[in-house]
Amino acid sequence: MRVVLIGPPGAGKGTQAAALRIRLGVPHISTGDMLREAISARTVVGEKARGIVEAGRLVPDDVMAEIVRERLEAPDAVGGFLLDGYPRNLDQAQTLDGILEGRGKGLDHVLHLALEDSEIIRRLSGRRTCESCNAPYHVTSAPPRMAGRCDVCGGRLAQRPDDKEEVVAERLKLFRERTQPLVDFYRKRGVLRDVDATGSITQVQGRLEAALGEARIGGASR
Ligand code: AP5
Repeated sequence: MRVVLIGPPGAGKGTQAAALRIRLGVPHISTGDMLREAISARTVVGEKARGIVEAGRLVPDDVMAEIVRERLEAPDAVGGFLLDGYPRNLDQAQTLDGILEGRGKGLDHVLHLALEDSEIIRRLSGRRTCESCNAPYHVTSAPPRMAGRCDVCGGRLAQRPDDKEEVVAERLKLFRERTQPLVDFYRKRGVLRDVDATGSITQVQGRLEAALGEARIGGASR
């Protein structure tokens, strides 16, 4: 299954992807995680992206196209994927169409997580992320078992530089201006599913499962 997760910063895309990828049996491909890994490894792409990501702006489309094309060609993504953070504007959506056209397979679903700004700010200000495996936590709603340490790999939890208040404001503005138009773009194509991202992590997970269809998810996970 080829699925895209779309939603404002802090809507819970990374959190929900952790369970969804297992249910769907496809890799979770997060362009934000890939960029953060490149930044911490100080690769050429990482050095280009560092200042842009930390300021909450968008990495140039040609750089992103290269990263995504290469990742989608990896053997684990040939049978499907859960793409999180890409596309982020109409040019990127067209690039993705081009990549998929080459395979003769379009997107099955675009899941749109919708959330109000006040809750986005609450979630991002309390977010802590594992520096080793990128697993997301929240100081109150999703705390780790041991303070400051990742449940999955024991890595150190830290606040992302782009979760500072002024950077969050820039990311939200960019989401509204550049990414929100994709909601209509995919709605017109008939692949969009709107999902209310308010409530607990489990409640949102249930809505995502309902949106995808219980039978299809059950079939894919066997
Ligand atoms: P990226 O990492 O993709 O950031 P984002 O889209 O802004 O999304 P976030 O990771 O901030 O939020 P999320 O929705 O995954 O929320 P999470 O699950 O963590 O991109 C980062 C940067 O990279 C961009 O700003 C840009 O610079 C660059 N970039 C990436 N892709 C690009 C592209 N295609 N083109 C150009 N540039 C690109 O949850 C947030 C918090 O809330 C956590 O603490 C979590 O525990 C908590 N939480 C989650 N769900 C719930 C719930 N239901 N109830 C309570 N708490 C919850």
